[in-house]
Amino acid sequence: MALDFAAAYDELNPDDDDHRFYAALADELGATRVIDLGCGTGTLTRLLASRGRAAVGIDPDPKMLHVARQRHGGADIDWRLGYSDRADSNSADFAVMSGHAAQVFRDDDTWSRALQDLHRALVPGGTLTFESRNPAARAWERWTRKATLRTLDTPAGPVEFWHETAWVSLPLVAYDTLTHNLHTGETSSDRDILAFRDGPALILSLETAGFSVSHQYGDWERTPPLPDSREIILVASRLA
Ligand SMILES: C[S@@+](CC[C@H](N)C(=O)[O-])C[C@H]1O[C@@H](n2cnc3c(N)ncnc32)[C@H](O)[C@@H]1O
Repeated sequence: MALDFAAAYDELNPDDDDHRFYAALADELGATRVIDLGCGTGTLTRLLASRGRAAVGIDPDPKMLHVARQRHGGADIDWRLGYSDRADSNSADFAVMSGHAAQVFRDDDTWSRALQDLHRALVPGGTLTFESRNPAARAWERWTRKATLRTLDTPAGPVEFWHETAWVSLPLVAYDTLTHNLHTGETSSDRDILAFRDGPALILSLETAGFSVSHQYGDWERTPPLPDSREIILVASRLA
């Protein structure tokens, strides 16, 4: 049996500094209605909803959303299967894409469409925030079996899990997620392609969609960005 990636996602990606950053930002801004685009298993959506906010979690992967619904059901979260066009107009004062979800939009057209949908979904003055890996920090060079190997205990036995970069053609990077069940010997390999946009490209895309960038950080401690910061963390407001 291959690794159930959606079921293992929370163990591989625990609630961490990134989610705490976004939750603190929502608190500071007094956000009351939030959208989490690319919500995955919904850990951040649930954290955002836990302070009495109305929350919408949108994701096109039915397996991820199934885990989200099972683990984080509740009347306060509206889970929606699909893409950014599932967000209602003028429905939120805070929108977020976490877990590097912003990098899944490989081509500029789909990225622009997502930003336009989030612009439409936010009230004027509402906040959009997300992070993207800084291409200058070359994260893909660290995606090797040696650096990323984890062994997970699953109902089907212990499964080794790791990433390997397949090719780099900036701004796109392809990487494989490989698994090996140590009991059955079964292996699997899945390829994903991510976009590594740099800071100026991200800011231009936001401005083109009608946002103004208010803050930029290079890490989750809100350090100003440096040329080789690992993250590009952006906070933007919807212009009227
Ligand atoms: C790395 S996960 C991040 C999940 C979650 N936001 C987190 O912080 O852990 C990226 C998510 O983006 C979703 N995704 C992929 N393509 C998408 C698209 N076009 N629009 C919105 N979400 C997408 C995937 O299904 C996946 O759940």
